[in-house]
Amino acid sequence: RHSEGACPASALAAAFDPFEGPYQVDPAEALRWSRDQLPVFYSPKLGYWIVSRYDDIKSVFRDNVLYSPRNALEKITPATPEAMKVLASYGYAMNRTLVNEDEPAHMERRRVLLDHFLPENLEAKQEMVRRLTREKIDGFIDRGRVDLVEEMLYEVPLTIALHFLGVPEDEIERMRSFAVAHAVNTWGRPTPEQQVEVAHAVGRFWQYAGEVIEKMRADPDGEGWMHYTIRKNAEIPEIVTDSYVHSMMMAIIVAAHETTSLASTNMFKTLLTHRDAWEDVCADPSLIPNAVEECLRYAGSMVAWRRETTAAAQLGGVELPAGAKLLIVQASGNQDERHFEDGDRFDIYRDNAVEHLTFGYGSHQCLGKNIGRLEMRIFLEEMSRRLPHLRLAEQEFTYLPNTSFRGPNNLWVEWDPEHNPERANP
Ligand code: HEM
Repeated sequence: RHSEGACPASALAAAFDPFEGPYQVDPAEALRWSRDQLPVFYSPKLGYWIVSRYDDIKSVFRDNVLYSPRNALEKITPATPEAMKVLASYGYAMNRTLVNEDEPAHMERRRVLLDHFLPENLEAKQEMVRRLTREKIDGFIDRGRVDLVEEMLYEVPLTIALHFLGVPEDEIERMRSFAVAHAVNTWGRPTPEQQVEVAHAVGRFWQYAGEVIEKMRADPDGEGWMHYTIRKNAEIPEIVTDSYVHSMMMAIIVAAHETTSLASTNMFKTLLTHRDAWEDVCADPSLIPNAVEECLRYAGSMVAWRRETTAAAQLGGVELPAGAKLLIVQASGNQDERHFEDGDRFDIYRDNAVEHLTFGYGSHQCLGKNIGRLEMRIFLEEMSRRLPHLRLAEQEFTYLPNTSFRGPNNLWVEWDPEHNPERANP
């Protein structure tokens, strides 16, 4: 398949475009050639070095000094002057949160803010997730056909996230448009016209985040992680800074729910297209925890993350200059056959599924991973028990074109309500 004279890998590197074509269809498959031939390559279209193998991605995550996370929330498509003007008009000043903060500030802050995320402090959330999930299913179980995103997988993670944060739950629709704008702004390639439109939405989101903080400050004993954060901001402002509080307020609304909604959507899509696995899960719910990990490995919602070198580095046999921007593609690492046997095969019995990189790795590893997992497990427990005859409807899947957040916008499923198990055993 080598074309005359030309090096196919360098041609593929030159052609690589994460906003359209194969990467948007299937990021792991789109980088198979890279895993095999050129595991670290420069993409002139993106201006980033792409990292596609499991071991290289993990070593980047492991060294957060040489590979700084400071560019993790940067606009991957630089803002146009018009868009910058719009953002400035809203006083937009998104800066460091946790995920894009260097040491030692990051660890000092992470340590102070860690408690709410510990498994023992999440126990109480379990009942709430189950109750919300059951209510949603009660609402559609006799219908026979729904878009699961619209009916459950968007709203339940959002409600749980807002509750965890202690943010008022009154503006779900507004948040939805904000979240999309934030994702396009950070990881997408908007046209110059869209840039201006997105900048307005992002600016409004920024102001909204500020208003929410003010509202929360007025309730000093409020519950939830952001209330706690606000109290720490008053106590130790040099560690939990004002800028951090405002930036985190905006980032966390998206980090805490969009990631989980998309991962859950991918999970149902994957299981229903692998019918044997779905039926095994229905027959034996003890398979669910590992099935969730395998779904996160095979079709995670966070498919690529970013780092920047602080000095010249060597990675995958390639010399990187200082200041090199890296797109590390977890979706590709997650299917790397050097780490996962038959990595492109979906297998809920896989014994190392949990080693996936979807939550990142090392000192910045996702703080909310156990919240995400908890929700995914409960969705699967409830759906597989109450709708084992569920199937995927005929449909075209659409995705928001971007480098990092991945999951279909809708997921139509159908079933025959006559065969609902609870009709036979009410
Ligand atoms: C960080 C993915 C759910 C809060 C991250 C990172 C990824 C990620 C890739 C960066 C990791 C790194 O740099 O090593 C996901 C996925 C989720 C999810 C796939 C769902 C399936 C959540 C939830 C919350 C949350 C529910 C909060 C309630 C955070 C925070 C960080 C983070 C605070 C920053 C940690 C740090 O830098 O110290 N997440 N996340 N995430 N995530 Fe999540």
